[in-house]
Amino acid sequence: MTASPIPGTRPSLGITALGTYAPPRRVTNADFEARIDTNAEWIESRTGIRERRFAAPDEYTSDVGVGAVRDLLARDPDALLEVDAVICATVSPDALMPSTAALIAMQVGLTGAAAFDLSTACSGFVYGLSVAQGLILAGTARRGLVVGAEALSKIVDQDDRNTAILFGDGGGAAVVGPVPQGYGFQHFVLGADGAGGSSLYLRCAAPRLPGGFEMGETVGMNGREVFKFAVRVLGDSGNEVLAKTGLSSADVDWLVPHQANIRIIEAACERVGMPLSKTVVNLGRYGNTSSATVPLALREALDDGRIRDGQQLLLVAFGGGLSWAASTMKWWGGAPSLVARAEREAVGV
Ligand code: UT7
Repeated sequence: MTASPIPGTRPSLGITALGTYAPPRRVTNADFEARIDTNAEWIESRTGIRERRFAAPDEYTSDVGVGAVRDLLARDPDALLEVDAVICATVSPDALMPSTAALIAMQVGLTGAAAFDLSTACSGFVYGLSVAQGLILAGTARRGLVVGAEALSKIVDQDDRNTAILFGDGGGAAVVGPVPQGYGFQHFVLGADGAGGSSLYLRCAAPRLPGGFEMGETVGMNGREVFKFAVRVLGDSGNEVLAKTGLSSADVDWLVPHQANIRIIEAACERVGMPLSKTVVNLGRYGNTSSATVPLALREALDDGRIRDGQQLLLVAFGGGLSWAASTMKWWGGAPSLVARAEREAVGV
């Protein structure tokens, strides 16, 4: 099997390395019950979440992202060879300037690579994979590093029971590069609808939202509106990307959805026609980590052997914007960076 495309054909691109990081501090539902007007049973039954991780006071999103990249390097020390573009999908950047991507790139030895942040909230990781694929196919980059990283505990009002109980911190990092023909990304469906922007929001330095909407310095959310939107777009975008790929849900080995609420996941499964038994769910232990949920779920299912080489995956995500992103891919878990090195050595570079 070779990672080189047949001359004249589009190279197959996919995830060639994947690492994750979650801060060690666990915050349980009982911790919230002890502090605000909620109860542990309500949280678990209405969301599926039992605990989440919180970053340390001096730990920011770039640190979380670097943690994920270090995990990736521990699994494949050559994984960052040829990476010349870094994309950080986040809604909790260290700052608007500099980009969190540039800060991560600097700390993992990728200074000089293109680096920028991508703001589509919880859809960000899947969006980022598609953007990296585009940069490579356009000849702008050889490989891309896509980091979904969040320190949401710093931008969520920990006294607001509508939001505080949902969100946690974590990160995932994926290298996008050549994989053997027939593996890797098949299709993406990306979308957004700004009309729903006022359902999930956070102010910036020069805030404006249509309709004179008041925004605070912590995440604001209309949970019911987001819930309805999520169920609809996860189903629609999942079905659309399957149709684009010429597949039906029966062809899918694993559905990897954004982890926001178990009831949203169950409803999306029904709409796509996938059983929960073929769906990766780990939100009970991490809560909603926005752009990090998909890589955290993917990594866990790879580590415990559920996802194996050659299996058909369907990724679906939704988030602020409101936005959505879905992708089909055939998993290849080889070590393509080693293939690339062998190829370089073979031609003496
Ligand atoms: O990545 C995207 C991020 N956002 C989301 O994914 C949010 C999507 N939405 C949801 O997950 C759900 O809408 C929530 C979990 C946020 C809320 O669940 P719900 O079943 O839609 O509850 P609700 O908003 O309809 O509220 C039901 C009741 C209300 O009380 P009343 O008015 O019936 O007396 C709320 O005040 O539950 C109450 N409630 C709570 N009770 C205990 C709301 N939050 C809490 C809480 N603890 N934390």
